[in-house]
This record gives sequence, structure tokens and C-alpha cells, in this order.
Amino acid sequence: MENEPGVEHAKHDEVAKYNLAKPDGVELDSVTRDVTAGEVTTRVWDWPIRLFHWLLVLAIAGLFFTGKQGGNWMQWHEYIGYSVLGLILFRVIWGVVGSYHAKFINFVRGPKTVFAYMKTLNKKDAPSNPKYLGHNPMGALSVIAFLVVIGAQAIFGLFADDDIMLRGPYASMVGSELSSLFTQLHQWNSNLILALIGLHIAAILFYVFIKKDNLIKAMFTGKKSSIGGRFEPNMSEKSRPYWLFIIVVALVTTIVYAVANKLFLA
Ligand code: HEM
Ligand code: HEM
Repeated sequence: MENEPGVEHAKHDEVAKYNLAKPDGVELDSVTRDVTAGEVTTRVWDWPIRLFHWLLVLAIAGLFFTGKQGGNWMQWHEYIGYSVLGLILFRVIWGVVGSYHAKFINFVRGPKTVFAYMKTLNKKDAPSNPKYLGHNPMGALSVIAFLVVIGAQAIFGLFADDDIMLRGPYASMVGSELSSLFTQLHQWNSNLILALIGLHIAAILFYVFIKKDNLIKAMFTGKKSSIGGRFEPNMSEKSRPYWLFIIVVALVTTIVYAVANKLFLA
């Protein structure tokens, strides 16, 4: 296979030198390193993940704005709310079929690993403190928390009713008592989302300013730098084919359309 300019394939002895374990199913030849400007950079986030992330940020901002404004803005609230339902569904599916670092199986870790990682947070780059290329074990928790809490928020919204401008498509089916419970849950849960966002941004700033690891840049470019092999295994994998992305988006759009229009009940 031809090398891209400025990119060289990691050598087997380099992997041995840094004691980088190679997970099953990952071909060493798919490990590429950009050696331009003397810095080793690695593709970590595929573009669908980056697109998902920044669309989610915009959509959540829009939902808080429209939800708090009320009035005519609620029509937009409904549309953006369905979009977020779609985004979450997309991320769940992409967590199974997406590229290496997008897959849950490659970053979700058990409590033991999470605690072991937490203990190393105040240390410098000791070998006992492997830097994770993808989400670290704690970051993985926040990904799952976001998916669950935002997903639940969208579902509560489907049953919520503000008695004026917007009634979720399933609100009338569950009766007014249950619907007002879902409306309450929708309000309380929105505060939980705000708390998670605050924690998320604080954690990211901790990495940027204290650990000198610019995660934000990586969420834009998709690449992380890893000087001298300080990272865990370099599993830079090619993005998934476009057709897979299109199939997943078509599937998600169909599901959300059916949910919003109650086609499942027809
Ligand atoms: C509405 C606000 C936000 C939400 C709901 C949110 C949600 C998320 C989610 C779900 C992920 C996991 C990405 C994935 O694997 O799919 C993530 C990762 C990330 N987010 Fe956000 N985010 C928000 C705001 C921000 C902001 C404002 C920044 C930048 C200042 C940011 C920077 C990042 C970075 C750098 C990562 C990757 C962390 C890592 O390297 O492990 N996020 N975010
Ligand atoms: C995950 C996506 C969503 C977020 C983050 C969100 C957020 C919010 C927020 C912050 C409010 C204002 C709550 C308050 O008064 O303090 C609100 C209200 C509302 N939302 Fe959503 N929402 C989402 C999805 C949805 C969906 C999909 C629907 C229905 C189609 C919906 C229906 C409503 C209704 C009916 C209200 C008014 C309830 C009330 O009177 O408090 N939301 N939402």
C-alpha cells in the first residue's frame, strides 16, 4: 500500500520499543504516523464523530434557548428536539459500527480501570499513567452519561406538555397526570444536563491547561499528537466508508420520523 506524503508506517520495532500492545483485529499496517514538523500525530476521531459532537453542542444550546423562551420558539424546540433524538441514536449505532476510537468496546472500561486511571491523574507521564489516545476511562463515563441523560431528555419531551404551545406527540396518550410528571422530569433533567456540561467543560480545561493536552483541537482536527510514543497503542484507523454513514443516517432518520409521527402505532 502507498504511503501518504508525510506519513510513515510505524515499524514493528517501534511498537516493541514503547511496549505498545496491539489489540486483536488491528493490523499493524493500519498504524500510521504523521511525522511532518517533527511531531507525531495520529488520527483519532473520525469525521462523523466530530460532526456529531459539534452538531450536538449547537442543538443543545438551541434547545435551552427555545425551551426557556417558550412561545413560538417551541415549534423550533420540537424540531431540534427530534434532531437530538436522531443524533443520540446515531452515536449509539456508530459506537458499534464506527471506526476504532468511536466504538464503545474500545473505550468503555470497568470500575477497576477507572479507579486505577483516577489515581494516576496527578502524576506526570509515568509509564503507570498511560495516555489514552481515544477517550480515557473517565471520559468514557461522561460519554455514556451524556448519551443516557440527553436520550432520556428527548424521550421525556415526547410525553411533555406546556399546555400552550407544544405538546409532545405521546402526551395525550398517557393522560394529563402522567404527562405533567414527564414535563417535570423534562425540567429537572435539563438541570442535570447543564451540570454534566459544566463538568465536561471543566474536565476538558483541566486537560488543556494542567495536563497540556489540547483535546479541543483534536475534536476539530480529529488528530492528537503523541511525542515519543507517550500514548497507548497508536490505533489510527481509516474512517468508515461513506456508504455506511449514509445507511446509518437513513436508518436513524426513518426511526425518528416514525417516532415523531407515531407511525409505530398505526
Ligand atoms: C452542549 C454542550 C456539550 C455536549 C452535550 C458535549 C458532549 C460530548 C460528548 C457526547 C462527547 C463524546 C464524543 C463521542 O465520542 O461521541 C464529547 C467529547 C468531547 N467534547 Fe464535548 N460536549 C459539549 C460541549 C463541549 C465544548 C464547549 C467543548 C470545547 C470547549 C467540548 C469538547 C469536547 C472534547 C475535546 C471531547 C473529546 C474528549 C476526549 O478527548 O476524550 N465539548 N462531548
Ligand atoms: C434532548 C433534547 C431536549 C432538551 C435538552 C430539552 C430542553 C428543554 C428545556 C431546557 C426546557 C425548558 C424547561 C423549563 O421550563 O425550565 C424544555 C421545555 C419543553 N420541552 Fe424540551 N428538550 C428536549 C427535547 C424535547 C422534545 C423532543 C420535545 C417534544 C417533542 C420537547 C418538549 C418540550 C416541552 C413540551 C416543553 C415545555 C415544558 C414546560 O412547560 O416546562 N423537548 N425542554
